[in-house]
Amino acid sequence: MRLLLLFFFLTFPLFADSSLYAQGKKLYFSKGCNGCHGVSAGGTNQYPPLAYRRKAFLLYKLKLLRNKQGNTQLASMMIPFAMGLTDGQMDALTTFLSDYHESNKGSYVPDYSMTGGGSS
Ligand code: HEC
Repeated sequence: MRLLLLFFFLTFPLFADSSLYAQGKKLYFSKGCNGCHGVSAGGTNQYPPLAYRRKAFLLYKLKLLRNKQGNTQLASMMIPFAMGLTDGQMDALTTFLSDYHESNKGSYVPDYSMTGGGSS
């Protein structure tokens, strides 16, 4: 019995976390974050990458941006999106981003590119 309980407590955070991840993924697309940061959150030359970055950092930045504090001129683009997020949504989004494990097999265009497409 004790072992069963232990098992439950050890695995429960795992499930809780993965649902937060799914919630964050849904929010990422429904809130239009993908429009600037990319479908695989890799960023572009104008927009910072978000995937694989530390949750604490992402949360810290989102909260600053929600308070209309950004580092660059581009921040004014991001501020309205941060202002539309509750603490719970930020938690889900940053879990999704820091824990990012999507397969990007469907995409043949590299999302994270510091240069142009090569045609210009
Ligand atoms: C209109 C384009 C745009 C959209 C849509 C957008 N962002 Fe951003 N985001 C930016 C820009 C530009 C910055 C850089 C701001 C700065 O330099 O201060 C940024 C910065 C960030 C940062 C801080 C990263 C860093 O390295 O400083 C996070 C986290 C972030 N965005 C998350 C999100 C989330 C989550 C969403 C969806 C709710 C979202 N963004 C939607 C443009 C956008």
